Amino acid sequence: MMKVCSDVPSLRELTAGWRQQKQRIAFVPTMGNLHDGHLSLVEIAARHADRVVVSIYVNPLQFAPGEDFDTYPRTLQDDLDRLRPLKVDAVFTPDNSIMYPQGEQQCTYIEVPGLSDILEGECRPGFFRGVATVVLKLFNMVQPDVAVFGEKDFQQLLVIRKMVRDLDLPIEIIGGPIRREADGLAMSSRNQYLGKTDRQKSPVLSETLARMRDLIINGADIEQTRAEACKQLEDNGFTVDYLTLREAETLREVKTASDCTGCEVVILAVARLSGTRLLDNLKFRLS
Ligand code: PAJ
Repeated sequence: MMKVCSDVPSLRELTAGWRQQKQRIAFVPTMGNLHDGHLSLVEIAARHADRVVVSIYVNPLQFAPGEDFDTYPRTLQDDLDRLRPLKVDAVFTPDNSIMYPQGEQQCTYIEVPGLSDILEGECRPGFFRGVATVVLKLFNMVQPDVAVFGEKDFQQLLVIRKMVRDLDLPIEIIGGPIRREADGLAMSSRNQYLGKTDRQKSPVLSETLARMRDLIINGADIEQTRAEACKQLEDNGFTVDYLTLREAETLREVKTASDCTGCEVVILAVARLSGTRLLDNLKFRLS
């Protein structure tokens, strides 16, 4: 039976019982409006533990003024219906008065330096502070043995891994692969902001990344390939926030293949269609 807890004492009561029986707890934090990408993380979680907790909370601290906090889709009943058939033991659905009783501006913050200041962090100042703070709070509430995050938000996954290492949290972090629509668009709650024409154009982003990867693997000049890919996106009506080849572990920029022989790299991209930001990435190994 899936339990829904909206306060910390009832969640703690459940998890304390499990812990007493030496059961391992896996945790999947989300902001709800669940799609198959989220559900794939739940399946991974179930393979790594005896009990699975999913949280649903739209965290105001990771939205800047003028972003989509107010309009972010909130579909709790549908979300619970999607989780019920899965192996989920508890859904934690706190509200702002539980997460930030004194308001989110008065909260103690977690800053993960370096990684938080580039790429997404540069486009959305304060974003990773909001993410790291809420995730640490959720970790302390749930006290999981393992937590699963999507590679869709590649930089977020690295920020969480660094926070866990830096603060010695006894939690194993697992990354889950990106789930895509049939045409290649990475699943996201924000895809529903796309109008019909933009939705039709949107797969060009993942196609561009795949082509860029193939060219780079075949020895094409990285900077030239990158510039051409940007142009192709812009020609298709995208506004490119960034499109860049990085070392997968450190996000150090890779400018030439000889910079990074044999290492795992990732193309990180954010491009906008009529104001909707689409995030995508593609990981591969340089020979
Ligand atoms: P949200 O955007 O709801 O995503 C919850 C989790 O689902 C994240 O780990 C995200 O990377 C993963 N996810 C999203 N789309 C995916 C896809 N297409 N394939 C695989 N995984 C996908 O990310 C957040 O919420 C928040 O920042 C959160 C971590 C909950 C903190 O508030």
